[in-house]
Amino acid sequence: METLKTIFEHRSIRKYKDTAVEKDVLDNILNAAIRTSTTGNMQVYSIIVTQDKKRKEELHKIHFGQGMILEAPVLLTFNADFNRFNKWCKQRKAEPGYDNFLSFTTAAIDALIAAQNATLAAEAQGLGVCYLGTTTYQAHKLVDFFNLPKGVVPMTTLVIGYPEDIPPLVDRLPAEAVVHYESYKDYSNEDIDRLYVEKEALDETKKLLKENNLETLAQIFTQNRYPKNVNVDFSRLFLEVIEKQGFMNQ
Ligand SMILES: Cc1cc2nc3c(=O)[nH]c(=O)nc-3n(C[C@H](O)[C@H](O)[C@H](O)COP(=O)(O)O)c2cc1C
Repeated sequence: METLKTIFEHRSIRKYKDTAVEKDVLDNILNAAIRTSTTGNMQVYSIIVTQDKKRKEELHKIHFGQGMILEAPVLLTFNADFNRFNKWCKQRKAEPGYDNFLSFTTAAIDALIAAQNATLAAEAQGLGVCYLGTTTYQAHKLVDFFNLPKGVVPMTTLVIGYPEDIPPLVDRLPAEAVVHYESYKDYSNEDIDRLYVEKEALDETKKLLKENNLETLAQIFTQNRYPKNVNVDFSRLFLEVIEKQGFMNQ
């Protein structure tokens, strides 16, 4: 029940106290990440811990200046990582065949599941976290920053620390928007209207529309937050990283 309480209390934290994360608390987070399920128990991910102030300042620049990076004492960068596993195979007379997109996806899944276990362990210990999606946008820079060898691609980053304040829970779509029983039931226009009606009626939404002078919440996503040209440009960069790191041999 404690675990469920932690899960249902989740909110991203973007303001942190200037309080260090104790070693045993951090070790619990890392060991929780390590305890996660992974494909074939290969553990094809890695975690880079950043605590050094100067290094955090550099990461702050790379992650488009997101302020919480300077406040929070710990950053964990989760990588899809076949490097160690490939080396082990080669040292044990086994030829690895993990230089392809399926293997990248396998390792990416392992990395993301590990990150979520770390999140739960952090929150269970009274810490707050925020994921950084800028990790994939800036993967090309992070490869250099962390000296990542072939076989390693940064997937996501967790900012971790003690919350300065606890913001209200953010809305979610109703369960029927994301859950399908037995087979996929596609959405009619009426379904879409019904599923989004609450989100669209929020005061927060009205405020956003006014600030951005737009008509619908969807336009905030397509025009402001995640516009096509940005998606295309960063897709190209990320595909280059995946190729450079040795995952496009198919
Ligand atoms: C993969 C991923 C990337 C994210 N990237 C960012 C980010 O770069 N900056 C940020 O402030 N929040 C980021 N978030 C947090 C989301 O905005 C947040 O989870 C969402 O708005 C729901 O809010 P909640 O986590 O408080 O419930 C990210 C979340 C995920 C899962």
